[in-house]
Order: sequence, then C-alpha cells, then structure tokens
Amino acid sequence: MLLSLKFSVLAIALQLARVLAVPALQPYDSLAGLTRDEVDAFARSVKVVGGQPIPKPIKDTSLKLVNDKKHPWKPLRAGDQRGPCPGLNALASHGWLPRSGVATPGEIVTAVQNGYNMEWTRAVLVTYAAFLVNGNPLTNLLSIGESRGMSWLTGHAPPPPALASGLNTHGTFEGDASLTRSDAFLGDNHSFNETLFQQLIDISNKVGGGKYNVSAAAEMRFQRVQDSIARNPNFNFANPRFNTAFIEAVFPIVFFIDGRLQEAGETGLDLDVMRGFFQDHRMPKDFHRRGTPTGASDSELDFVMAAHDYVPGFNNGSVNSFVADPNFMGTQTETVCALYEKFVNSTVSLYPSPHGDLRKALNKNLDNFYVAVESRCDQIKPYH
Ligand code: HEM
Repeated sequence: MLLSLKFSVLAIALQLARVLAVPALQPYDSLAGLTRDEVDAFARSVKVVGGQPIPKPIKDTSLKLVNDKKHPWKPLRAGDQRGPCPGLNALASHGWLPRSGVATPGEIVTAVQNGYNMEWTRAVLVTYAAFLVNGNPLTNLLSIGESRGMSWLTGHAPPPPALASGLNTHGTFEGDASLTRSDAFLGDNHSFNETLFQQLIDISNKVGGGKYNVSAAAEMRFQRVQDSIARNPNFNFANPRFNTAFIEAVFPIVFFIDGRLQEAGETGLDLDVMRGFFQDHRMPKDFHRRGTPTGASDSELDFVMAAHDYVPGFNNGSVNSFVADPNFMGTQTETVCALYEKFVNSTVSLYPSPHGDLRKALNKNLDNFYVAVESRCDQIKPYH
C-alpha cells in the first residue's frame, strides 16, 4: 500500500516535472526545436512581446559625426556579447545598440541607419532575415553573438542548428569563407582571426595600394573561397551565403570609410581603421557616417563578383569536391526573391508547426521581412 502510494507520488512528480520543465533558455535564445509544451513553459517565464511594427526610416540622413560624446567606445563588460558582424559589434560598443549585444530587430534597423546610413530597405531585409532564424520571436530579442550550446533541464536537446542561437549560429545566416572569421568547420566562426587579417593586409598591399578597396575586396573574396574549397569538406557557398558573402566584402568600403573622405573621393579603407572595426568593435576617432543612404553600391558589388568566376554550390563532404547547387534559385527568377524564399524556408524548417503567440510573432516578422522585397517578389505565407 505504502509502496504503491510512493510510486504514484513519484509518477505525479515526474509528470509535473515534464510539463513544467523549462529549458534553461536566455530570453534572446532561439525557440527552434522546442516542443509546444516547452514553448508554452518558456512563454510563462518571460514577458511576451511578440512581433512589432518596423520602425519608420530615419529622417535625417545627412553626413554626420557618429563617434560622438553620446556614443563613446567602451570596453566589454562581463557578459556583453559580440559576434561575426563588425558593423553591429561597433554599434553595440558605441552604444548605438544596447552595449549588452542583445537587441530588438527594430533597434537594429534604426541603429544601422543612424550609425552608417544604411538604407532602410536593406536594413529591414538583413535584420529580419537574421531575426527569423536566430532570434527569439516571443521576447523579440536577438543576440549579435552568443551560440554557446544551451543547457537543457529537460535532458533532450533540439536538433541543430537550434542548439545554439544568436548571430554566431552557423549555417542559417552566418556562413563560410568570411573575410576575417574562420569557417565553423575549421574553428571559431565568430571571433576576429589575425591570420586571416594578415592575408587581407597582404592582398591590400599588393592590389589596393595599401588600402582595402574594391580590387582588394575582389581578391580577398576569391582567396577565401578557394581556401574553403581546399580545406573545408563541408564548405557551403550556396544560398544565402553566395549572396551575403559578396555584399559583406564591399560593406567595409561602403560604410567604414569616413563620410568626409568618401565625399572627397576616397575609395579605399585605411587598414588600421579596418582593424579597429573588425577586431576592437571600434569606430575611429571623429568618425562621420557617409552622407547618403545606401544598401551597398551595385558597381562595387558587380566589380567583386565579376573579377572571378563564381558558382553557387558546396563541397560534397570532402575537400576540393565543389559542385554547383542546382536549387540555387528555388522557385524564383530574381536573386533577391530566391534569398527571401530561402530565409522563409529556413524559418519553416526551424519552426515547422508553431502555435499561439509563437505563430503570431513569426507571422508578424515574416510580414516585416517581406516589406523589404514587396516591390519585386510574391509573398510566401507558410503559416496562414
Ligand atoms: C542590418 C543588420 C545586420 C545584420 C543582422 C548583420 C549580420 C551579419 C552576420 C550574421 C555576419 C556574419 C556572416 C559571415 O561572415 O559568416 C555579418 C558579417 C558582416 N557584416 Fe553584418 N549585419 C548587419 C549589418 C551590417 C552593417 C550595417 C555593416 C557595415 C556597416 C555590416 C558589415 C559586415 C561585414 C563587413 C561582415 C563580414 C565580416 C567578415 O567576413 O569577416 N553588417 N553580418
């Protein structure tokens, strides 16, 4: 009798533990891979904010001082997060984004406009793509770094890539052949890598007259792809990486050259300034953002893409086995729509059947993401 009572108490306790079990998640962790019960338990433990409207474009897009008195560089405090993006890292270390490195998509959209004069539509495209695959839809927070594996109280872990979250997560947004970060297969995919930066310096000295200009960008981009083909059996240079890798190669020229120098015709980025952004998350003293909003100049992007032959694709599990990706365009005919489709599909594979507030938040952020491409692409509504 006593024994059977003990057993039923134990059974009830176990059942309760299963229902109440909340994975030890941070408020900014991705919810991909969680069961419905786990999502509900998480929702009870936080303030559910859900998807929010996109902030309007900033009004003043003039050339101006952005490393100003209100936005001084400060060293990292314990727990502050930085990741693979030198642009966002510097915004956080100057207080244009929360210095913690944890931000809402709205804060990111506004900060990249304020800090660099990134054009609103591009800011929306990149931010919501990243947020959908790496952010927390219920708290509306994203880490610009993170990606330690989560500790799970439930004893089971979701399938990768949901094991980690934030922009450091490999294979959703963060990808291979970065300029200054290693491929995930080969090591640390988010920290500044001195060996790679030395390669960038060598190339800039050889073809850029000692600066990082389009010629240096073109050669560095090519060398990084060749290196990954030769050393990374899992090298992935398909969609979306095929797009982001080229854009990111020209971002430093477009956004990190002081606006006053740009207006005076400067087309190359000083390598010490570049190191400041890439290694120390630091704008140079007196840094002025560019004087006109842009997404990234087409002419620079075209130059880098045309300088060598590139095909979207991947290594087939061994080095030097690069094959073209036959599904690069998905069901689309325009590249930007293929990129849009890819991120929508990634979202669905991370959240196959969301319910309640989670579904609502995902739908809102999918709508936000679509705003960036609405003039070119048909909307995909996976959860309607
Ligand atoms: C708008 C929101 C943005 C998001 C969500 C974002 C996210 C990212 C991510 C995930 C990466 C890693 C990709 C990889 O190399 O594997 C990256 C790289 C990069 N980002 Fe951003 N970014 C944003 C805006 C910016 C801005 C405004 C700039 C420049 C001012 C910038 C400059 C760069 C550069 C140069 C890299 C390449 C780093 C390297 O290859 O070593 N990003 N970004």
